[in-house]
Amino acid sequence: MKPLVALAVCTFSFAAAAQDLAALTADTKRTVLPVVPKVVNAMQEAVAEKGVAEAIPVCKEQAPRLIQELKTATGWSIRRVSQKLRNPERAMPDTWEQTVLAEFEQRAAAGEKPEALEKSAIVDDGGRATLRYMKALPVADVCLNCHGPADSLDPGVRAMLQATYPRDQAVGYARGQIRGALTVKRPL
Ligand code: HEC
Repeated sequence: MKPLVALAVCTFSFAAAAQDLAALTADTKRTVLPVVPKVVNAMQEAVAEKGVAEAIPVCKEQAPRLIQELKTATGWSIRRVSQKLRNPERAMPDTWEQTVLAEFEQRAAAGEKPEALEKSAIVDDGGRATLRYMKALPVADVCLNCHGPADSLDPGVRAMLQATYPRDQAVGYARGQIRGALTVKRPL
């Protein structure tokens, strides 16, 4: 009897949650999105104050730390993902994320503004209704210092990146392209 009850409850809450997609998405965005300008500002300040090479730790440590603080505060899974990875240990997309990243590329090619690209859905994650949300992270001018075409990078920066990330794929971007996405998994 027990498993049946559990199943019924689970199905019911999933259906109820599905109706709340808009409200849940709005609440998730309100909570999570302020971290995006925080990371970009931290990067801009670090590049301006210390130079690009010294700013590498900002993207390597400070960006993940700001995201970690948000994870601790919310209990949700939050990270950055990309199709072209610099740090595969942290930023490897799962199947859902791969599909959405490909969809973002198609939507951008069809004329949507990269900074407006986002996607949310309620999915069944191992029997638990889960809100998934992704927001594209477009390449701004400051990003080109470390993600621009390899031959345009400062030689010192290029050497530091190669030493830390020997299989770095995250170069060769132009302004306005999609560098990756912020991704949230929020169990309901
Ligand atoms: C000072 C150099 C530097 C600048 C400027 C920079 N990044 Fe990065 N970026 C890095 C490094 C280093 C990593 C790898 C971090 C790690 O080890 O987790 C990274 C990783 C990322 C990732 C995670 C995916 C991956 O490939 O590992 C995203 C997304 C990203 N950067 C986006 C941006 C965006 C968007 C900008 C501009 C707003 C930007 N970065 C500017 C150095 C930089």
